Amino acid sequence: MDYSKRDVLERGSATIVNCLPEIGRETAVAEIFEGLTAYPKRISSKYFYDKKGSGLFERITVLKEYYLSRTEKTILQDVPLCAITDCADVDIVELGSGDHSKITLLLDKIPEECLPGIRYFPVDISRPALEASIVELSSLFTGLEIHGIVADYIHQMHLVTGKRKKLYCFLGSTIGNLQRDEAMAFVSGISATMLPGDGFLIGFDRIKDVSVLEKAYNDAEGLTARFNRNILNVVNRLIETDFDCEDFEHRAFYNQEDRRIEMHLIASKDMRVNTPLVQDDIVIQKGEMIHTENSHKFDEGDIALFAEHAGLSIAMTFSDEKEWFSLVHLRKT
Ligand code: SAH
Ligand code: AVI
Repeated sequence: MDYSKRDVLERGSATIVNCLPEIGRETAVAEIFEGLTAYPKRISSKYFYDKKGSGLFERITVLKEYYLSRTEKTILQDVPLCAITDCADVDIVELGSGDHSKITLLLDKIPEECLPGIRYFPVDISRPALEASIVELSSLFTGLEIHGIVADYIHQMHLVTGKRKKLYCFLGSTIGNLQRDEAMAFVSGISATMLPGDGFLIGFDRIKDVSVLEKAYNDAEGLTARFNRNILNVVNRLIETDFDCEDFEHRAFYNQEDRRIEMHLIASKDMRVNTPLVQDDIVIQKGEMIHTENSHKFDEGDIALFAEHAGLSIAMTFSDEKEWFSLVHLRKT
């Protein structure tokens, strides 16, 4: 996470601007320190995604246990982009774009002569992931205008401007990583800036058998455990601590009441961790948990509530046969 300087990078016809300095490293330091001295302890899941974390996530997406990406991709393959938006004149804004594999499935179906009518704005907090995906995309779709934005979408949606028709995409059930009320407020906030005819494509992971859910976050190869522990490396760089990832165990389980997978790191010993940036030490007891992620799961009622709360209408819902995942096209009317 690069909070150091606002810079613009050019890659052929694509540009990337790093807007994280607008938030500032001090804000990240304060947020992390506050979470690690709270009870129970927590670290925001947005800190998973440094170069290593984004790489580990990409490897998770192809694991057999992690059905989410595979299922959403199967659905995306059959979504006719030109039927849900005006492909001759649209800005596609992808929130938490990650790698380019999902947007590629949508763009693949567009006639080449339409590409100059589309501008693509991937927004992601992970600069390495954004850079890599933009390089790939600009070589795959030469006529496409790409403007990458390294930013925190929760705080920096004001960076997306202009009156052109918009299609927002929030894929992968990344919406589930927000608290339910935060997710509602986020979608509503964007909806308030949308004009009639604009669209929002959101991927929702559906409630299903607990064993399927829990396996997806406890893969046999241990990649999710490595992904979870790596958040401490990001914390070490940001707040200058010396957490040893190996001092923590990965735990992921389904919380029935809140209908979400929770990921935690459990301390295997007592520790006192110092940061030169803040006077107090971070004190952790053996067995204490640090909550690193929620991954909420949704039913039809939840999806309808989202639409209603945001003042959007459900234009179309695309699901797989087992209804494990739904891609919902919401429209501003
Ligand atoms: N949409 C992709 C990637 C999902 S992983 C897919 O479905 O495969 C979640 C992505 O969101 C990561 O690339 C991460 O860097 C990004 N992300 C997480 N929190 C973010 C935030 N607050 N602001 C911007 N990007 C964020
Ligand atoms: C990005 N997000 C939707 C993933 C999820 O399933 O919540 C992140 C992830 N965490 C563990 N594995 C994958």
